[in-house]
Amino acid sequence: MRLAVEVNGAPRTVECSPWSRLLDVLRDELRLTGTKEGCGEGECGACTVLLDGEAVNSCLVAIGQCDGRSVVTVEGLARGELHAVQRAGSARRGSRCARRTSSTAAWSTPPTAAGRRAIASASCSPATCAGAPATS
Ligand code: FES
Repeated sequence: MRLAVEVNGAPRTVECSPWSRLLDVLRDELRLTGTKEGCGEGECGACTVLLDGEAVNSCLVAIGQCDGRSVVTVEGLARGELHAVQRAGSARRGSRCARRTSSTAAWSTPPTAAGRRAIASASCSPATCAGAPATS
C-alpha cells in the first residue's frame, strides 16, 4: 500500500503494509535511525516521535494510521542549527542510554499531556536502566 506522510516537514511516500510499525518504517525505510527501539511494547518511550504534534510511542503506531499526517523525529528538531537537545547530546558524544534519546527530544517540545506521560515513562534510573548504548 502506498502511503503519504510528512516526515520532518518533507512529504514522503512509503510503499509498505499499513500494519507496519511506524518505528520500523522510520528506521528501515526512511533511514531515520534517531528513533530508537527499547522495549517494543509501549513501556519505555525510547521510540517517541511527534504525530501531529502529540508524543506517541512509534512502536505502537501502525504506519497506516499516519497516512496524510505529520511525523517529527529527533532528526526533525533542528531548524537551521542543532536543537538544544541535539547540542547537548553532541557535546557529550551521544546519549549513554538509547532509552532517553528520542523521548528527551519529545520533552523539549511544548509540553502536552502526552508529552508529560512520555517523560514519565522514559525516566530511567540505575535500578531500571542498564545504560544500553544507543544504536545507529
Ligand atoms: S520501544 Fe516503544 S515504548 Fe519502548
